[in-house]
Amino acid sequence: MARINENYLKLAAGYLFPEIGRRVSEFQGSHPDAKLIRLGIGDVVLPLPAAIREAMHGAIDELGTTEGFHGYGPEQGYGFLREAIATHEFGARGVEISPDEIFVSDGSKCDSGNIQEIFAASARVAIPDPVYPVYVDTNVMAGRTGVPDAQGRYAGLVYLPCTESNGFSPEPPSEPVDLVYLCFPNNPTGSTATREQLAGWVEYARGCGAVLLYDAAYEAFIRDPDVPRSIYEIDGARECAIEFRSYSKKAGFTGVRCGFIVVPEQLAGTDEGGAAVPIRSLWNRRHSTKFNGASYPVQVGAAACYTDAGREQIQANVDYYMRNAGIIRDGMEAIGLTVYGGTNAPYVWIRTPSGMGSWEFFDRLLGEAHVVGTPGAGFGACGEGFLRLSAFGHREQVTEAVERIRTNLKG
Ligand code: MLT
Repeated sequence: MARINENYLKLAAGYLFPEIGRRVSEFQGSHPDAKLIRLGIGDVVLPLPAAIREAMHGAIDELGTTEGFHGYGPEQGYGFLREAIATHEFGARGVEISPDEIFVSDGSKCDSGNIQEIFAASARVAIPDPVYPVYVDTNVMAGRTGVPDAQGRYAGLVYLPCTESNGFSPEPPSEPVDLVYLCFPNNPTGSTATREQLAGWVEYARGCGAVLLYDAAYEAFIRDPDVPRSIYEIDGARECAIEFRSYSKKAGFTGVRCGFIVVPEQLAGTDEGGAAVPIRSLWNRRHSTKFNGASYPVQVGAAACYTDAGREQIQANVDYYMRNAGIIRDGMEAIGLTVYGGTNAPYVWIRTPSGMGSWEFFDRLLGEAHVVGTPGAGFGACGEGFLRLSAFGHREQVTEAVERIRTNLKG
């Protein structure tokens, strides 16, 4: 029999969201009449905006003609989309990113999971805690860690605690590392980082030669004009950072699938002999070997996000979800719970009542209020004692969920 990659055996039994899905299905199976409200996984519910749908319809029709047919596209993404991204996501904000530095993909989950492949197996990795589990699990799979301890922390990783006392925005570690994952607006805590905090990270990275892996999948949800939307708003970031972006949440693409990654030309790593190697060419090599490009209709749909109509419709959806976030925040505060996030991010991070464990609170809300959240402990040891509610729901369900939680906790 073939030997397996034993690193997989170090992983916690199931990936967080399927595990929650399993528990929810089990509950629903034994309580078929329970009307569950799902504010667990951050999955959008509003229909795909009309401007995007129309553009995708047009692209499908084009594919049905001899002149308009497209076979394999450029692995890095079509020029029309990369140019639109460079102009609208960056140029419009005074950030210079060239289309050649942009790689279109089928979403941020894959990009943020795959990026570690182009770095050494011995790379020292710093990861916030709590964190989007993909960053940890993919490094475990690649063999960069030992086994987890009782709290689920893997030997070999440098954990960056994100707590109430640091506003869920971690400090750079006291030791040098090779890779640092950062996510702002943060999943799961909903926190953001100030310009000064990001400048501190850029200084740290440039000082020790680390690469910042900056996940900005939720940037569209930032309301405060002083909060940076891109790491490249910080001087020097082009020399030390890769950025991940996604259409999933802002444009309703969780099922359509499209995202992109920015790898600046100046960014370099070193080979065994210490010679500088451009990271962009390595990523291009990896991407064009393992990926054949996002589909043409999807890229046309993504480009429609930058039309006037597209922008307006996307903004309306983002505003809708952020109103939900406000309803959740206000509702939880009115019950007397301590809440974070939800002002520049679609996630509300709630301290569990009476010191309840995360999973205990999750089970109580599921079993008694029939509301599905995500237990903070599922995102890391520092998430224990918290529960995340997602603002990606229909308004009446969000309102109803808040009411059910209120009744349950007050009852
Ligand atoms: C989440 O709920 O954290 C996200 O939806 C997961 C993801 O984007 O993969």
